[in-house]
Amino acid sequence: MNLKDKYIDFFEQHGHKVIPSAPIIPENDPTCLFNTAGMQPLVPYLKGQPHPLGNRLCDVQKCFRTNDLDEVGDTTHHTFFEMLGNWSLGDYFKNESIHWSYEFLTKVLNIPVEKLAVTVFAGNDVVEADHESAEIWKSLGIKEERIAYLGVEDNWWGPAGETGPCGPDTEIFYWRSTDPVPVQFDTNDDRWVEIWNNVFMQCEKHQDGSFTPLKQKNVDTGMGVERTTAILEGVNDNYESSIWKPIISKIEEVSHLKYEGENKRPMRIIADHIRAIVMISGDEAQIYPSNKDQGYILRRLIRRMIRYARNLNIDMQSDFDQVLANMIIDDYKKYYPELEKNKDHILDILASEKKKFSRTLEKGLREFEKIVEHLDTNVLPDEFAFKLYDTYGFPIELTMELAHEKGLSVNKEGFDELFKKHQEKSRAGSTAKFKGGLASDGEIETKYHTATHLLNAALKVVLGSDVHQRGSNITSERMRFDFSCDHKLTPEEKEQVENLVNEWIQEGLEVRVETMSKEEALKIGAEAMFIEKYPDMVTVYFIGDVSKELCGGPHVKNTKELGHFKIKKEEASSAGVRRIKAVLE
Ligand code: SER
Repeated sequence: MNLKDKYIDFFEQHGHKVIPSAPIIPENDPTCLFNTAGMQPLVPYLKGQPHPLGNRLCDVQKCFRTNDLDEVGDTTHHTFFEMLGNWSLGDYFKNESIHWSYEFLTKVLNIPVEKLAVTVFAGNDVVEADHESAEIWKSLGIKEERIAYLGVEDNWWGPAGETGPCGPDTEIFYWRSTDPVPVQFDTNDDRWVEIWNNVFMQCEKHQDGSFTPLKQKNVDTGMGVERTTAILEGVNDNYESSIWKPIISKIEEVSHLKYEGENKRPMRIIADHIRAIVMISGDEAQIYPSNKDQGYILRRLIRRMIRYARNLNIDMQSDFDQVLANMIIDDYKKYYPELEKNKDHILDILASEKKKFSRTLEKGLREFEKIVEHLDTNVLPDEFAFKLYDTYGFPIELTMELAHEKGLSVNKEGFDELFKKHQEKSRAGSTAKFKGGLASDGEIETKYHTATHLLNAALKVVLGSDVHQRGSNITSERMRFDFSCDHKLTPEEKEQVENLVNEWIQEGLEVRVETMSKEEALKIGAEAMFIEKYPDMVTVYFIGDVSKELCGGPHVKNTKELGHFKIKKEEASSAGVRRIKAVLE
């Protein structure tokens, strides 16, 4: 059994329900590009909303952190990673949490207690010093010398964004070295590596920086799969663990090179990026490479991977990328079945982005070499950085990396300036086009946004007022809407919903927005997904008198602008949740 299976098995035996990983692209949080921690999708439940599966949960969560992207290439960094987590939603607290962590580490993973050390919270004016956790650790055999009290910088976790659930934590460290284990735990000695974080999530941080106690005391733990697997297997380079071995071997095979010396870095980058590419493009959100948001990250990952594959002389005409992607899909589909389901999408994206970029990469690199040769400063001219982007499709970060390798710097502000100017020009162009009958992307998405509100309202009319939105996702091609409903829609119901939305569109209903207090919004019965996630003052969008919904916008001014609404698909999303895919034609 691998670490993930052992973990899930253990917590299931201790009364936890296994929840599927939430999508890597957060469903209801446009302020956040990716899920960065296991707890992120659970915020409403940590704040007191009852979870349908009860108050003890565990999972393996797909996570992605963009801040590590440029670090990838060393022995420890990854963009995509998996986080194991177990949660108590107002159920057990410190005692069980620490006992089970200890039991899992020492009895299931057979880690000798001598190799463990822990930190606990030293206390501040919000929460007092955590002697309770220290005592529990001691009762389990962790010596006093192996317990360090640390402050907010080290032993306080969260919130994940600016506001939300957070609390003190106790972190567990492992002696990752063949050197003898010192008696005294030195938190500055990096041979002690953190393997598990148990957060006692009991506070909520507010916009003004203040803290209040949460309705309930929660436990939120997180363990990184890659790091812990490497540790357990006794390797110092994560990429030498069983997680990465087959992928690295395949890269060795297609490049006819060995994983050694200076080949290591490009090989690690390819391995990390291909997995992240599969996970992002395989997510239900159906992301495409683009120049913004998640699409841009996906593009950067693919293009950076291709650049490093070229450095290893991998044949660009070969299907190395497809072979690697297929390996990842096969490896992970047991945990994330959407990968199998979206396999064609993943492979298509990869093929077309590779085709697009490998055509211009060579030319761009040649031009780069030429310019660099004749440069008499150590700063790459802004116009050239922009040309690499605009003509050859080099993400600015890639250009910065290339420049850095030559000891040059790039003036990012100068590039941004040119980028902005260019955008203004093309925006003016697309407005002109719109007048000629073609909408730009932003306008299409705005229309879908308004259509989402209409669909939400129509479902309530047809199926009953207890139908609620569970998620939504919009691209310029379609809208997707998840809602609570216990049955497959009949053809009549589907038709009714579709007709109703189209009727409202034809009626030319006015869309208006009002700002009011959250209480007021609740009082007038405005629809909201996670009311507690909203600030005290909210904006409510009204569409004629058929819909009122808390929302940040933007929306069209009049429903007439939407055209014709058509449901393309109605299917199950998860237990008790149905999914509609629809288009505006
Ligand atoms: N939220 C904590 C972390 O990300 C524990 O899961 O480390």
